[in-house]
Amino acid sequence: MKILYAPDYESLSRKAAMLIGAQILQKPCSVLGLATGSTPIGAYRYLSQWHAAGDLDFSQARSINLDEYCGLPDSHPQSYHYFMRQHLFDHVNFAASDLPEGCAEDLQAECRRYEQIISAYGPIDLQLLGIGHNGHIGFNEPSDHFVAQTHLVRLKEQTIQANARFFDDPGQVPRQAITMGIAAILQAKKVLLLAGEGKEEILRQALTGPITPQVPASILQLHPDVTVVTTAKEMSCSR
Ligand code: PGA
Repeated sequence: MKILYAPDYESLSRKAAMLIGAQILQKPCSVLGLATGSTPIGAYRYLSQWHAAGDLDFSQARSINLDEYCGLPDSHPQSYHYFMRQHLFDHVNFAASDLPEGCAEDLQAECRRYEQIISAYGPIDLQLLGIGHNGHIGFNEPSDHFVAQTHLVRLKEQTIQANARFFDDPGQVPRQAITMGIAAILQAKKVLLLAGEGKEEILRQALTGPITPQVPASILQLHPDVTVVTTAKEMSCSR
């Protein structure tokens, strides 16, 4: 595991974008696993700028997102479809991009469809991840077991509260989501985990504590190629 320390959010964002950009330059037909949340927004801004400047071309690449809320139409400003268009897809030129359909009539069938997409185009070359205050990656919430495949998840109260800041009315935060499972994340060739302000303690637990489904990100200790970019102060790492 490699940990890159960044003095501030801009530096974290630039470093993350450089690593994603390098992946595209080295393998133009990469499959990128992408994440939402406030942390990757700056990296997406740099990637959009570098594409506009003619330095990055995504036309042979595809993206597969981690997750989507259930029940929000794609046009809802808090849906992850909308987020990805706003922060990246409207500004760059991926050949194709997939996200789970959170308004599918049959959500279990949608989980199976998404798993087939991952199998068809995976393994993911570079998986970008944030980390939740409770240690979730994607919407793999703390649990008594890891879930391998794409699945329907009931969001934890802490996650609902953390995401309520984005909604006019906290009551509107969806209670359910579809998330990529742990297997696709572990099978990604490289993982890039971003952890900004407020994530120091959970990052320390995930990287140096026991591997447990109660801290889903702790499973990354088993992945052979993880790079962490963080504004946290230096921490000693067990692996
Ligand atoms: P954040 O969310 O980037 O908005 O902090 C990360 C996450 O919950 O995975």
